[in-house]
Amino acid sequence: MNEPVPVAVVASGGGTNLQALIDACSDPAFPASIAVVLSNRPKSGAIERAKRAGIRTEAVLRREFPSREEFDAETVRRLRAYGVQWVVLAGYMRLITPVFLCAFPNRVLNIHPSLLPAFPGLNAQAQAHAYGVRIAGCTVHFVDEGADSGPIIAQAAVPALATDSVEDLQQRILAQEHRLLPTCLRWAVENRISLDGRRVRVALGPGESSMIWDGQAIHG
Ligand code: GAR
Repeated sequence: MNEPVPVAVVASGGGTNLQALIDACSDPAFPASIAVVLSNRPKSGAIERAKRAGIRTEAVLRREFPSREEFDAETVRRLRAYGVQWVVLAGYMRLITPVFLCAFPNRVLNIHPSLLPAFPGLNAQAQAHAYGVRIAGCTVHFVDEGADSGPIIAQAAVPALATDSVEDLQQRILAQEHRLLPTCLRWAVENRISLDGRRVRVALGPGESSMIWDGQAIHG
């Protein structure tokens, strides 16, 4: 068996997506290992979860740097020290600059809680709820310089019920995020994802799909 590919997870929040990645990586057959968890919030749940799992952590605070570029340069310097091949943004609430992107070209993934390009930015689930959509979901995509605008790798859709509170919808989406993100990380580290402009192709294995409806793979 090949050595697992070292990856970084960068997170700002409670870290449930990080936890899904930690759980996936605890399977010796999973092809990635989390070498470091970095956060802009040293007291975040993500940092706590990493420590509990015995994963090295780094904190870089935006207020300690005069510009976004210098902040990202420090983030990159810390991540590079771990030799990571891929970076997963798992609830990282900052836009990244070209300084970050150029350090890991086409090697930064993000999970966003909407069916992009609908509802980019903050509070995507509340945006979808307020808009009254009947189908919501989440997207894993490559990161580019825009807000949630990079090439889409996979999406999972869920029903948005008329009776849902924002919290109901958020939880239904989150359950799918926890499945989609480890799946996409597997594809990434196995070099099964290729880019043609902004169109993504995944070399899918049996039973795999980059389209999920209510937990079920759709085969196109
Ligand atoms: C997740 O829903 C993630 O998709 C979202 O933040 C949440 C983090 O939860 N990310 C964004 O909105 C990025 N634009 P977690 O800390 O429990 O993984």
